[in-house]
Amino acid sequence: MTPKLIIHGGFFSESSQSVEVKIAKQNALSEIAKASYQYLQTHSALETVVFATELLENDPLFNAGTGSQIQSDGKIRMSASLMDGITKKFSGVINIENVKNPIRVAEKLMPFDDTVLGGEGALMFARIHGFEYYDPIIPQRVVEYEAKKKAKALGTVGCVAIDANGNLAAATSTGGKGFEIPGRISDSATTAGNFCNEFCGVSCTGVGEDILRVALATKIVTRVTDGMKIKEAFQKSFDELKPFEGFAGCIAIDKDGNIFHQDSFPSMVFASFNGNEIVVFN
Ligand code: GLY
Repeated sequence: MTPKLIIHGGFFSESSQSVEVKIAKQNALSEIAKASYQYLQTHSALETVVFATELLENDPLFNAGTGSQIQSDGKIRMSASLMDGITKKFSGVINIENVKNPIRVAEKLMPFDDTVLGGEGALMFARIHGFEYYDPIIPQRVVEYEAKKKAKALGTVGCVAIDANGNLAAATSTGGKGFEIPGRISDSATTAGNFCNEFCGVSCTGVGEDILRVALATKIVTRVTDGMKIKEAFQKSFDELKPFEGFAGCIAIDKDGNIFHQDSFPSMVFASFNGNEIVVFN
């Protein structure tokens, strides 16, 4: 099997972000996809999706890790999850504060019996396991917060990869949608926003509440598992968003190495690497 991967950097807003920001995001995605593809040559899909998501979390252009959105009470709370297509184990952190890489905490949780932790418990677990204090705030988010410009989860990040053994994995990380009520739970650390088995892996971005309403990632993967082609599985699942104008975008790879992506409003930024060429979308 030729290893492949696809990453996303969430949605791009033509109205509130400049063309320079769009180009910067595309360039960053291209570099991160190249570095992650290199890593995939000698690592599993599971290790690679964590590696790629960590790089995305570290880039302040994206709304995950450093550069996460600020919630209505002025605090940053981040969510991230990881799913292994072989074991079907799902791990995640919900509304964790003051760690640099939420995806690494999710990875650390994978071997435990309790694999999804929220808030204080997630933070306590992180500290016990050596994750040091880190403030993910950047000046740009403070400006946005002070101007109270409500944003629609513009930069959630994610990665789906298939390795040389044909194993799939998916990871997703977000800083939320910005100005949310403290305690809100997004889709990103649920199986609606991040799902993977031996047939298909999916990572979503968009408005978490819309993604939860149709269990988007789980629906796409289940349809592919039941024999539907990936394109049709996406179409049928995205059709379910239409009655309420659901705002979502997804990336995916199936067991045959087919890479696919779709968004309900075409403004998502992606990069994929199929072994021969890097493709940057939007
Ligand atoms: N999809 C990210 C969020 O709604 O927070």
